[in-house]
Amino acid sequence: MITVVGIGPGAAEYQTAAARQAVAQAEILVGGARHLALYPHFYGEKKKLDADIDQLMVWLEQRRYQQVVVLASGDPLFYGIGKRISASFPPEQVRIIPGISALQYLCAQIQQDMNDIYLTSSHGRSPDFDWLLAHPKIGMVTDKVIGPRKIADEILARGQRRLLVIGENLSQSNQRITILKPEHVASGDDMYDINVVVILNER
Ligand SMILES: C[S@@+](CC[C@H](N)C(=O)[O-])C[C@H]1O[C@@H](n2cnc3c(N)ncnc32)[C@H](O)[C@@H]1O
Repeated sequence: MITVVGIGPGAAEYQTAAARQAVAQAEILVGGARHLALYPHFYGEKKKLDADIDQLMVWLEQRRYQQVVVLASGDPLFYGIGKRISASFPPEQVRIIPGISALQYLCAQIQQDMNDIYLTSSHGRSPDFDWLLAHPKIGMVTDKVIGPRKIADEILARGQRRLLVIGENLSQSNQRITILKPEHVASGDDMYDINVVVILNER
């Protein structure tokens, strides 16, 4: 059985009991270095994820009769590894345990309801900003290529009056949440740690 476990934004208290139980019962734990480090007391086999997802599917196929847990940040089916795994294996061989996504966590912190929010990602992809910025409320998972500064530039290029809520290192001790007009966003996306962005209309 392959169990894909959403581990939430990072802090242990934002993990579900189901996630913890799945990890405790795993024979093999698969995840990024940052995620594996959250389980120093896991004494089974650990496999570090790299960018070769095709190879990971082959590797998982060879081990599908073992209890394999694949760790995914936030929720596995929100721009995570869950989609690829559920597309690659029959449903009876996969179990998905949902987690709290970084965007849900950020909305909770700023008490912003998630009704009618358009949720998307720039992580490893190029969003259509014309279409995206036609929405009044947007939540974006980001990466180092398209992060807060690039998003701010796209807003300014369209003359929109918006606010960016930038949530970095969410749920961690170095968490930082800033609410800025686009013109005040720092000049380079390397100025920001791992982050998600909520875009709102300026009131
Ligand atoms: C591959 S996506 C996965 C999104 C994830 N499935 C979710 O539900 O949040 C990875 C991105 O999630 C966001 N992310 C994950 N954990 C975060 C955290 N603790 N603080 C801020 N952003 C985070 C970042 O935008 C990061 O580049």
